[in-house]
Amino acid sequence: MTVQTALLQGAKILDDSGIPAARLTAEVLLSHALGRERTYLYSYPEADIGDLAWLHYGRYLHERLQGKPTQYITRKQDFFGREFRVSPDVLIPRPETEHVIEQVLALNPHPSRIVDVGCGSGAIAVTLSLELGCVVFATDISPAAAAVARANAAALGATVHIVVCDLLAPVGACECDLVVSNPPYVPKSQLESLQREVRDYEPVTALLAGEAGTEFYERLADEGKRVLRPGGYIVLELGFSFSEPVRSIFQHGWDHISVLPDLAGIPRVFAARRTR
Ligand SMILES: C[S@@+](CC[C@H](N)C(=O)[O-])C[C@H]1O[C@@H](n2cnc3c(N)ncnc32)[C@H](O)[C@@H]1O
Repeated sequence: MTVQTALLQGAKILDDSGIPAARLTAEVLLSHALGRERTYLYSYPEADIGDLAWLHYGRYLHERLQGKPTQYITRKQDFFGREFRVSPDVLIPRPETEHVIEQVLALNPHPSRIVDVGCGSGAIAVTLSLELGCVVFATDISPAAAAVARANAAALGATVHIVVCDLLAPVGACECDLVVSNPPYVPKSQLESLQREVRDYEPVTALLAGEAGTEFYERLADEGKRVLRPGGYIVLELGFSFSEPVRSIFQHGWDHISVLPDLAGIPRVFAARRTR
């Protein structure tokens, strides 16, 4: 079986089952099975893939057809130009979340204490630590997610201290300069309507808020007010159509409020300053 034939067959099987980006997915899965970069597939289309890679490739295609996200098969996802390890214990970092990083960098902070709440894979905490060249603190309620974040911090050489706890519980009053978070924001009633890749594979603790979806924003507004020093910022990823509800949650005790859109024009990143 040559690279080219394996790709054609894999892409057709995926496409026939309605998997989006079938050709790209086949390329990612085949290069993962071969332990090679994707460029190899284009450089050596006539190369024989061998029995072992064929077996692995078949298994990966089967898993993807069942709905497993490609990133949980390859166990990796790029975020802000770096490769993060992911497992089903953590949310797969999304490209939209890179706007959270851009907003923090645009605020041009020189913070002595940053906390990333709900760090998951560590995508935000590790990236900020490396981009700003500083220590970042991070929390997550899931010990398994914290372990993934620790491994990513170590692999990428970031200094991130990770604590397993509920939001900002162990952080003292006025101890932070910047709080950042991509909190769970799916309303309970919408769980069933999520894509099966998300609903059946990503951790429910990373997705689900409460009945309204805004519950974590309410808690972060209260806790943010407590832990941020006056003049410190909070930067949050927004769930779909949450711009106005979150603005009204942050009505008192905050100023310099802004909401930035993502590339699709959807309001995506909320920022507010703790009043001085
Ligand atoms: C939407 S995910 C974000 C993960 C990562 N920051 C990212 O952007 O890819 C939300 C994270 O919050 C964590 N989480 C949920 N409830 C929490 C709580 N009460 N306290 C701390 N973390 C929580 C979940 O375990 C999950 O890792």
